[in-house]
Amino acid sequence: MPEIWEAYVTGPLTTESGAPVADNQQSETAGPGGPVLVQDQHLLEKLAHFNRERIPERIVHARGAGAYGTFTVTKDVTKYTRAKFLSEVGKQTETFLRFSTVAGNLGAADAVRDPRGFALKFYTEEGNYDLVGNNTPVFFIRDAIKFPDFIHTQKRDPYTGSQEADNVFDFWGLSPESTHQVTWLFGDRGIPASYRHMDGFGSHTFQWNNEDGEVFWVKYHFKTDQGIKNLTAEEAAKLAGEDPDSHQRDLRESIERGEFPSWTVSVQIMPAAEAANYRFNPFDLTKVWPHADYPLHEIGKLELNRNPENIFAEVEQSVFSPAHFVPGIGPSPDKMLQGRLFGYGDAHRYRVGINADHLPVNRPHATEARTHGRDGVMYDGRHKGAKNYEPNSFGGPSQTGRPLWEPAQVTGPTGDHVTPSHAEDNDFVQAGNLYRLMSEDEKERLVANLAAAISGVSRDDIAERAIGNFANADEDFGKRLTVAVQALRG
Ligand code: HEM
Repeated sequence: MPEIWEAYVTGPLTTESGAPVADNQQSETAGPGGPVLVQDQHLLEKLAHFNRERIPERIVHARGAGAYGTFTVTKDVTKYTRAKFLSEVGKQTETFLRFSTVAGNLGAADAVRDPRGFALKFYTEEGNYDLVGNNTPVFFIRDAIKFPDFIHTQKRDPYTGSQEADNVFDFWGLSPESTHQVTWLFGDRGIPASYRHMDGFGSHTFQWNNEDGEVFWVKYHFKTDQGIKNLTAEEAAKLAGEDPDSHQRDLRESIERGEFPSWTVSVQIMPAAEAANYRFNPFDLTKVWPHADYPLHEIGKLELNRNPENIFAEVEQSVFSPAHFVPGIGPSPDKMLQGRLFGYGDAHRYRVGINADHLPVNRPHATEARTHGRDGVMYDGRHKGAKNYEPNSFGGPSQTGRPLWEPAQVTGPTGDHVTPSHAEDNDFVQAGNLYRLMSEDEKERLVANLAAAISGVSRDDIAERAIGNFANADEDFGKRLTVAVQALRG
């Protein structure tokens, strides 16, 4: 019997309050064949608990799987960041990583064309650091104000109750900044064969700052040591039908076998002074920094080596927030990231509750949280009788006076400003570059995948506008797509 069941194999079945249960098969009735009695506390408690088993699923990334692991520093990065968990080669930090798909509901199939979430929690001695990324280096939009609209087009239509190609391609067609990410998504990497066989990215640009207060902008890359493996659209459709839990099962079973998946972790590093004149806006999430401009610097190794014991407690109730930074790491002015700094904590308070950060999977493991926040639903009394205010004269925890990150320089009036464009910025340049990098076979599969999806659009103007974005990225891309969509739409 697995060790994780042992606590439940001794002693009798009990009620929630611990009293022994006499009968778990028959409800108590008023005489044989009579109605059920309200005094059957065990029955009432069972039905009531059952009704409350679900919490709201995540509004995005509802479907996922997680595992614990270890991050090991392999290169000295102390001249770039003062984060303690990165302070020494060989230093190890416990982690928890949750993978996910984006659009599907909790019970959706894993093998679908969709970005994969790559949400990583480092349990550091200076607090938990969450890097809530994806398996893609870029995103569909560059301003958080568009996110709810974008996600509405990815989820179920309010009238049909299904995902609709009309909504998906209408939004993308009207949001040309999505062209880069959509080209990526419909290419070969759009359906990873498993969570182990894909890369991860922090995607946004983040601030690193060192002991001297010098600032660097960084982008994180997690390169899979298992090698990239993808599914074709046909393979995925078959697998999704036969084994909807394919990715979740693969992750758990590989860890059970002792085959621990790992990723080589690197960062691109931009000295702060170079940001203003870089050829692309370095804080625009729809753009990558080409490696020729900023090469990868290896910093460590991430290994996943322990399965959660209880999916609900540790995966469903796990919470990750891009606002969870530690000293030496902070946000950039990326407008998407700024919106996310609010969005996640708010989701956690709604979905799991105000004390979500107290749960075992979410609380710091290498230090403790010493806040003056108290009480609320499911508060566990961890602070005992300690004073709950600051300043206080009783030796309570107090502020340090040093922010986690360095201040940003800002100028100009407030306003609904468009994200500033740098010399080579437009919505299509990097999508075109990505297309031209592909082999002939890859281009064919990309065009076939996109054409199949666009052919589901009901209105010509929506399909044409969507195709127009790809034509703007590359003339050949647009021409081939037009022909392929016409062939399918007749
Ligand atoms: C402004 C844009 C965005 C907003 C407002 C937003 C909001 C959210 C919300 C509310 C959740 C559910 C959180 C929960 O219930 O615990 C979520 C999950 C997630 N988001 Fe975003 N998101 C945005 C963009 C992004 C981007 C750009 C990425 C990746 C680069 C990303 C990656 C993820 C991941 C990985 C999860 C799942 C976290 C987990 O496993 O618990 N999101 N997002």
